[in-house]
Amino acid sequence: MSLIKNLLIWVHLLAMAGVFGGFLYGRLVFASADQSYQGVIHALLKITQFFIGLILISGFALFYFQVQNSFQAGISLGEIFKDGVTHVILTKLVLLIAVGAFSGIGSKKAREENYPAAEKMWLLALVSTSIAVFLGVMLRSI
Ligand code: HEM
Repeated sequence: MSLIKNLLIWVHLLAMAGVFGGFLYGRLVFASADQSYQGVIHALLKITQFFIGLILISGFALFYFQVQNSFQAGISLGEIFKDGVTHVILTKLVLLIAVGAFSGIGSKKAREENYPAAEKMWLLALVSTSIAVFLGVMLRSI
């Protein structure tokens, strides 16, 4: 069980680094964007979306383990949902959905060759990811 949990945390962190790195690299690409970069932007987007999916799956599994542990400790579902940790996790879920939306809209803008708008979207995605990382690390220390 603890091996599975460690593995899930590893996938979660690796996918997080993938999303963060992808958006960071995207920022560099945008700094010099012209039509020849379209391919790079789309490849980046595909990879980051794959990692977003991985974060979601591993995150849900980690949450499931936390809920199971709480049940075993005799904590009721109502108490689990009133807990601050659950709120942090739900906030992370909202942030992840926002990251997906920003990157999706960003890619559409890039396809329309509206690079300034695409760049803004990617910047928002990067900021949202940073906040989610911060909350994730906070979960560890609570
Ligand atoms: C952009 C989105 C996200 C990022 C960047 C992120 C990042 C992180 C980080 C850095 C940790 C700390 C890992 C550790 O050191 O133990 C963490 C833990 C955790 N994350 Fe996420 N996360 C994201 C989304 C999610 C989502 C959507 C869920 C659930 C639906 C989730 C559930 C969890 C849980 C339950 C833990 C605690 C693991 C433990 O038991 O220690 N995360 N996350």
